[in-house]
Amino acid sequence: MSAEGFEMKNILVVGGAGYIGSHMCKYLAKNGYHPIVLDNLVYGHREAVKWGHFIEGSMDDSELLRQVFSEHEISAVMHFAAFCYVGESVEKPLRYYQNNVAATIKLLEVMLEKNVSNFIFSSSCATYGEPFEIPMTESHPQHPINPYGRTKLMVEQVLDDFEAAYGLRSVCLRYFNAAGADPDGEIGEDHRPETHLFPLVLQTALGQRDVIQIFGDDYPTKDGTCIRDYIHVNDLAQAHLLALERLLNGLPGGKYNLGNGDGYSVREVIEAARNVTGKEIPSKVCDRRAGDPAVLVGSSEKAIAELGWKPQFSELHAIIKTAWRWHGDHPDGYQS
Ligand SMILES: NC(=O)c1ccc[n+]([C@@H]2O[C@H](COP(=O)([O-])OP(=O)(O)OC[C@H]3O[C@@H](n4cnc5c(N)ncnc54)[C@H](O)[C@@H]3O)[C@@H](O)[C@H]2O)c1
Repeated sequence: MSAEGFEMKNILVVGGAGYIGSHMCKYLAKNGYHPIVLDNLVYGHREAVKWGHFIEGSMDDSELLRQVFSEHEISAVMHFAAFCYVGESVEKPLRYYQNNVAATIKLLEVMLEKNVSNFIFSSSCATYGEPFEIPMTESHPQHPINPYGRTKLMVEQVLDDFEAAYGLRSVCLRYFNAAGADPDGEIGEDHRPETHLFPLVLQTALGQRDVIQIFGDDYPTKDGTCIRDYIHVNDLAQAHLLALERLLNGLPGGKYNLGNGDGYSVREVIEAARNVTGKEIPSKVCDRRAGDPAVLVGSSEKAIAELGWKPQFSELHAIIKTAWRWHGDHPDGYQS
């Protein structure tokens, strides 16, 4: 029940203790929804769950899911829970197919049993593989080049089949690189191990790393370093809310890219972080990494046109400022 006395819709946020899921919960709560977080804390942080209700457990625990759906009237499920390390997915594909695909199917199975038919899925630009055109649109061929990307594509395909057969409606949001943090500084990005560029750069600014490594400076780009599309985590949350309301209003689901449309090179990110933090941030050029395309930039025209998405943090310095606020105040990340 809200302060004004109206019944708030419950949204089950699976993986809501993680980076993007926790920002989603704050956004949902601010917009009049009641998040119910299910997270096994394999990677997430208990401290990041500050809004709504927390249930510790895994989405592959069907009995627990049945209990959650029986105890709470759930209007929709937002699914952020996945293992997300591309390199590890190559070495341990079983772990990735089990968690990202098989456990997701268990979640969908219980949703069908309980007649919950609105689903929002965190997909990825990793479903596209090597880019044939820049910016990449939703019609770009999907040929993922690693098991992580394949797990995301498989779930998209499962969702298409479940919609056709069972009427389970879904929106798949293909994020490019999530970045930044809550502008109020309450929650932030803390992956362990950390592989994302923004936190690595800011940890270097804090003196926790000696240098930030630049993997290759001989790519055919303006300064020789890779260009990526960084999208603010609150803008991702805004798109999820729009997708949710689309489904709740009975409109069809779909697949949408979420990116900035503007790429930034690794050197540009480091330079912007130097400006924002006032720190030196030493960098070192290393060999290229296998499988890193020179440029990965997405077109989000479809999300803008159909969802009415209006990203608020497109500028690099603005994104870094929000991340620095949290990292500066929480140099050691979350405590739990
Ligand atoms: N971070 C990015 O740039 C990015 C880009 C594209 C797609 N994505 C996708 O977005 C989603 C969220 O990413 P993130 O960066 O917030 O990751 P994250 O690791 O911070 O969050 C994932 C959360 O899911 C939880 N989880 C994992 N398996 C679970 C299970 N079986 N049951 C319950 N909880 C489980 C983890 O404990 C963690 O809290 C993922 O699906 C990821 O693949 C992220």
